[in-house]
Amino acid sequence: MAQGSIRDVVDRHRVVVCVGSGGVGKTTMTAAIALDAAVRGRRVLCLTIDPAKRLANSLGLRAMTTEMQSIDPALLASVGGDGRGSLAVMMLDTKRTFDDLVTKYASSPERRDRILGNKLYQYISTSLAGTQEYMAMEKLYAVRDDERFDLVCLDTPPTSNALDFLHAPERLVGALDSQAMRWFVQAWEGAGKFSFGLVGRGAAFVLKGLSKFTGAGFLEQVAHFVTDLNDLFGGFRERARRVYESLRSRDVAFVIVTSPDPMAVTEALFFDEQLSAAGMNRQALVVNRVHGELPMPEPSESRLREIVAGRTRDGVDAAALLGKMSRALDDFRTAAVQDAAQVERLGGSIGGEVPLARVPAFQADVHDLDALRRVATHLS
Ligand SMILES: Nc1ncnc2c1ncn2[C@@H]1O[C@H](COP(=O)(O)OP(=O)(O)OP(=O)(O)O)[C@@H](O)[C@H]1O
Ligand SMILES: [Mg+2]
Repeated sequence: MAQGSIRDVVDRHRVVVCVGSGGVGKTTMTAAIALDAAVRGRRVLCLTIDPAKRLANSLGLRAMTTEMQSIDPALLASVGGDGRGSLAVMMLDTKRTFDDLVTKYASSPERRDRILGNKLYQYISTSLAGTQEYMAMEKLYAVRDDERFDLVCLDTPPTSNALDFLHAPERLVGALDSQAMRWFVQAWEGAGKFSFGLVGRGAAFVLKGLSKFTGAGFLEQVAHFVTDLNDLFGGFRERARRVYESLRSRDVAFVIVTSPDPMAVTEALFFDEQLSAAGMNRQALVVNRVHGELPMPEPSESRLREIVAGRTRDGVDAAALLGKMSRALDDFRTAAVQDAAQVERLGGSIGGEVPLARVPAFQADVHDLDALRRVATHLS
């Protein structure tokens, strides 16, 4: 049905970005793709946004940190690595990425320190909607040309709407460079204190109201901050544009991850439209946690009886246990039929153009090396 495999897609690109709605397996898939590529000889950087402690442990790390950490080559060798490839992981740190940007674009050390120390900045750099998405891409932009790596895998925050992710640069700059912000600058600049005569009557009214409400000290903080940040906009706006553009480059492949849940599939289809409309390079689909074949040959009724008889201790109702097992099997079969229908639906819409991988629902979470390797076998 589809052209090539996800592995082929990974091999043809320099950057792989896993996107999808919440909880579908983006972080897991990013790690599995990164590990697989490293085992097959590429020098990989995996950027995650998730502290995923057990995942870190399975890669021989105590924790994911915002410092770059290299995976022990012996560990790669233990799962088949031939020594050519390497794997480094790093957790994205939204605030620190923002701090780095401010440091880079502030016109003087004084301004830089004033921005970094401002209370509003603390809020914006951690809590303003879109900041995390933007900074994920910002980091990607910063590392994509790092010559130590030939593949960068990016995990992304859960977004219910691809637009959130794609338009984060515009939204963030828009929020920072809004009309209200400009009022502040106008009212503040020049005099070094508030001068409501400098802004329109409407704005003066709002600002005066605010100062009654919050106290002038707070407004001064805001004004300082906005003035300083304005100083960054020239650089920052241009930077945001370049970050956005770089995502459209041909060496960036987007992988849409979804579960077979009908709602998640609807979202994945919507994501796909958004990516195309934005001129982004959607290259593969992963349907994760698919109920397909049973993890073992399906036991016959008589075999089930035998199994149950062999395991029941005194006081266990064998008939009830048998009933439970049969029901679990039935549930699994029903789920398999439903999942197949959803995979079909996705395949019909977009799977014909790009590789579509089905990763089974494992019995336990994907938190060790073996499980990551098992995920990867479904990508080829
Ligand atoms: N195929 C699978 N079978 C079983 N468990 C899985 C599978 N894929 C992922 N998981 C588990 O599901 C949980 C969620 O996965 P993951 O953290 O990768 O999702 P996510 O899309 O990154 O979530 P978020 O949107 O919150 O960042 C994890 O505990 C992971 O180990
Ligand atoms: Mg995640």
